[in-house]
Amino acid sequence: MWKPSHVITNEELVEAYNAYAEKFNLDNEARIESGDIDAKPLSSAEFIEKASGIKARYAYVKDGILDIDRMRPRIPERSEDELSHQGEMALNAAKMALKEANKDASEVDAVIVGCAYTERSYPAIAIEVQGELGIEGFGFDMLVACSAATFALQRAYEMVSAGTAKCVLVINPELTSPQVNYCDRDSHFIFGDVSTATVVETEETCQSEHSYEILGTKAVTVFSNNIRSNFGYITHATDADPYGVDKLFHQQGRSVFKDVCPMAAKHIADHLSELGLTKDDLTRWWLHQANLNMNLLISKRLLGRQATKEEAPIVLDEYANTASAGSLIAFNLYHKDLKEGDIGVICSFGAGYSIGSLVLKKRKVA
Ligand SMILES: CC(C)(COP(=O)(O)OP(=O)(O)OC[C@H]1O[C@@H](n2cnc3c(N)ncnc32)[C@H](O)[C@@H]1OP(=O)(O)O)[C@@H](O)C(=O)NCCC(=O)NCCS
Repeated sequence: MWKPSHVITNEELVEAYNAYAEKFNLDNEARIESGDIDAKPLSSAEFIEKASGIKARYAYVKDGILDIDRMRPRIPERSEDELSHQGEMALNAAKMALKEANKDASEVDAVIVGCAYTERSYPAIAIEVQGELGIEGFGFDMLVACSAATFALQRAYEMVSAGTAKCVLVINPELTSPQVNYCDRDSHFIFGDVSTATVVETEETCQSEHSYEILGTKAVTVFSNNIRSNFGYITHATDADPYGVDKLFHQQGRSVFKDVCPMAAKHIADHLSELGLTKDDLTRWWLHQANLNMNLLISKRLLGRQATKEEAPIVLDEYANTASAGSLIAFNLYHKDLKEGDIGVICSFGAGYSIGSLVLKKRKVA
């Protein structure tokens, strides 16, 4: 896992948003009074922590986000000859993953970049990273919003199982901050930036100190408009405002909460039962990191009691929602203490709706 060096606390974010909202309300006093537009409501750090569990987030670029005349990161444009921003984030995590796995880039034969957004349509970020690392073979990007990382790991697992690749590098450069509407109090606090990477390979070639057998994977999608971003290439032809608020992340948070919690709990229970396992066989639950209350509810449904922090670690307090990378940050930070034979589940849930899980069994520590 690679994380940016910039941190934004709830307090900093709320102070900037509230200053922006007060200025907006003052500048638009007459229109608000006449009922033309609504006044901007104020945000609160206490609400954010209570409703979501989020206390802070990392930002790839902090400059601009807290500037009330800008309200978005100021990311310098790079020329086509330079490494792209997401390529850089991906490369940082990829190098760390290869080192942990004791792998040379020459031993990798496929690269998958799975994340919620890519900064351009083509060439794929995965191919750019493949080129930077000198990897022979192929690479591609796949977007499945919050489940991009688990879905990408599942594809890697299938490729290795089918023999179409021996070693796959899966990378999740989640550069979410450019898609946040920092002028919207309902969603300005939700996201953070991070990049994760994982090596998926055959048992024969594995030389990692800590490694896991993938016992099984399971994916499900059900269409929903409750989490959406309409940003896309077609706006050039529709004459819609390419930077309109519907082009940024927006959601019906309450409905998402209500829909996704039972879906995720059922998905995990079904996956375990398909593998002949029960909740008592599991040592760890590396769950998606969007909302603390969601994770508490899901783990309570599964365990019949509150999960401990050791059983279902929470990282969203420090990282916020990092789109598809959340469950992998939890995995990354909380797996080395597991013993040979211990079983855990990685599970993502979110936009689509999409849910993806992988059940892992710890191999002998090398
Ligand atoms: C977004 C989320 C934290 C909001 O929490 P919530 O408890 O559902 O809160 P609500 O949206 O019902 O809002 C409750 C009230 O607080 C207000 N509120 C919202 N944001 C606020 C803020 N930043 N500060 C203060 N008040 C706020 C709302 O406007 C609402 O006011 P009202 O009752 O007067 O209408 C929560 O719904 C959530 O995390 N849902 C799951 C989302 C998810 O997983 N998404 C996946 C994204 S990939």
